[in-house]
Amino acid sequence: MQVKIHPKNTFTIIMVVGFLYLAYLIFFESGDGMPEIDVDLKDVISYAVLAIEMGGHAVMKVNEEKSLNAAAKGLTDEGKEELLTRADLISNHLILDILQRFPRLQIVSEEKASEFSEKEVEPYRSDNYAVWQSVKEILDKIPSRRLQLSDVRVFVDPLDATQEFTEGLTEYVTVMACIVVDAEPIFGAIYRPFYNETVFGLQGFGVVTSDGKKITPVDESKTDKKVVVSRSHAGKVKEVVEKVYGDKMSIEAAGGSGYKTLRLVNGTAELYLHTTAIKKWDTCAGDAILRTMGGAMLDLEGEPLRYSSQDPILNKKGLIGTVRNPYTYFKKFQGIKLL
Ligand SMILES: *[C@@H]1O[C@H](CO)[C@@H](O)[C@H](O)[C@H]1NC(C)=O
Ligand SMILES: *[C@@H]1O[C@H](CO)[C@@H](O)[C@H](O)[C@H]1NC(C)=O
Repeated sequence: MQVKIHPKNTFTIIMVVGFLYLAYLIFFESGDGMPEIDVDLKDVISYAVLAIEMGGHAVMKVNEEKSLNAAAKGLTDEGKEELLTRADLISNHLILDILQRFPRLQIVSEEKASEFSEKEVEPYRSDNYAVWQSVKEILDKIPSRRLQLSDVRVFVDPLDATQEFTEGLTEYVTVMACIVVDAEPIFGAIYRPFYNETVFGLQGFGVVTSDGKKITPVDESKTDKKVVVSRSHAGKVKEVVEKVYGDKMSIEAAGGSGYKTLRLVNGTAELYLHTTAIKKWDTCAGDAILRTMGGAMLDLEGEPLRYSSQDPILNKKGLIGTVRNPYTYFKKFQGIKLL
């Protein structure tokens, strides 16, 4: 039987198609004109954690190689620079390699064109499955939560405490990933490759270590009366802290934003102060963990750091970080020129 297209039918077809098209636009299109995709936060977390573990293993391997080659001799400045570049780029390469397998996930990392080919990177790639096994147990406990993919951004730092890394101060070195929804960091993971320790924080779930231990803030009275600060500007902060706390608080210069956050997390420091510019991939994971514990990172104007695509990557306003009552601490420093 032949279908005759009457004008009325034509109209109906146009109406229906038009409606479907509108419905498509309203329900499925996101801002960038691509159809909206629903994801499980748990899956994004799994990719992010696997990625930083792979990156961290590579950082260790590069370091081992170098110390074998440079045994006893010590590294020249050029050697240090080469070591850093190599570790940083290879870690970044392996991290992006994993995250990019998650279709259309937005990744924020230092724009680094990898000088290394797949073949050159291969020796630094750990067995995916073995790494997966080591973190699987803890990831299994994370609850599912549906999110729109276009609202999610992942910040990565393939090698934090770069200066300290070149000096062989590996205790400060971390590899970090952080998940941001809208402007807020809701998940952070800090991996210390040379100590095989990972700390994860997910808002609404809590802070845990890779061996499954739950971390809650150490009682304020048992927290070390210490301010951790960058090794490059400890002197200036010392003066300010003396002004505010007298001799009740000491200063410790330490490398890496990730490391300094971990000191707050285990109560071996009470405050983290930074008085110069800092990139947001250095702070995002730590900020997420502190927020999960009831604290936060504020800039030195007292605003929580924001991580949306409209906010600049470089935070020029410094930061103050704690596991509790960030505004109370901020107020003590109000009116004092810190930046
Ligand atoms: C690192 O820690 C994980 C989790 O605690 C563990 O499964 C793994 O075997 C450790 N790796 C090494 C090399 O010790
Ligand atoms: C606290 O955390 C830092 C950084 O991870 C670590 O070096 C230190 O050993 C920890 N101290 C305690 C008492 O847990």
